[in-house]
Amino acid sequence: MNLASLDGVIGPSEEALIPITDDGLQRGDGVFEVSRLYKGVPFAHDEHIVRMRRGADNLRLEADFDALEAETEALLEAAGPVDGQIRVMLTRGGRRILTIEALPTVPPVARVATVLYQPTILLNGIKSLSYASNMLATRLAKERGFDEALFVTPEGKVLEGATWTFFWVSGGQLYTPPLEDNILDSITRRLVFEGSSAVERSCTREDLAQADEAFIASSAREVQPISAIDDHEMPGTPGPVTRAAHEALLQRIEREVGAAAAVAAS
Ligand SMILES: Cc1ncc(COP(=O)(O)O)c(C=O)c1O
Repeated sequence: MNLASLDGVIGPSEEALIPITDDGLQRGDGVFEVSRLYKGVPFAHDEHIVRMRRGADNLRLEADFDALEAETEALLEAAGPVDGQIRVMLTRGGRRILTIEALPTVPPVARVATVLYQPTILLNGIKSLSYASNMLATRLAKERGFDEALFVTPEGKVLEGATWTFFWVSGGQLYTPPLEDNILDSITRRLVFEGSSAVERSCTREDLAQADEAFIASSAREVQPISAIDDHEMPGTPGPVTRAAHEALLQRIEREVGAAAAVAAS
């Protein structure tokens, strides 16, 4: 499972090496994407690469996307029909790094703690390699006995999770914060939108305290129900709106992965 492609050379992930002078390592200067693999078929990978191109342009980072595509195909072929995820990284030092990984282990239902966070204007919308604050936020949430961190600005605007998009339900209506609130343009967020009647609305701490349901959305986790946000417990998780959104997403994935597998076999 732990297989890597570094500038086109495929081997075990543990053995792939980059120079310590690469600014991807030294300064987190680069971009990355993670797509889910279903029996070796990457889901919505093209959309991830479109976002990566946008992020690389914004960072003024040049990369050979044709080579990246060929290397992705070769790595997927070498990995075979695995379930997991594929991570793609482009570094300032010019490396193209691809890894095939197992899925992160997460509980079926998440308890979430709010963590203060201020988005950096310059990196808005860029899935950059500078994720130390996201990782720290998760660690802080875990120190408080929760599973996940939910970012809230000093002004009280609720944004997104450290590695996921946030949805909540109030009065039977599904909501998610708008992109203008400086959250990542998540691929799963778009798919949940298309498969539900979700609407965009900025979220406040009061909304959290009154939420009937809430869930996490991301490529790796699909939909993961939230049972508590800080001291607000939501008994009966997952509720009906969460279940319907999850089911619609699973059907979409099954359709698209099935179609891609049929094309590959023909
Ligand atoms: C900050 C942040 N928000 C949202 C997401 C979910 O994005 P996607 O649905 O494209 O996986 C991620 C994924 O890593 C993320 O890091």
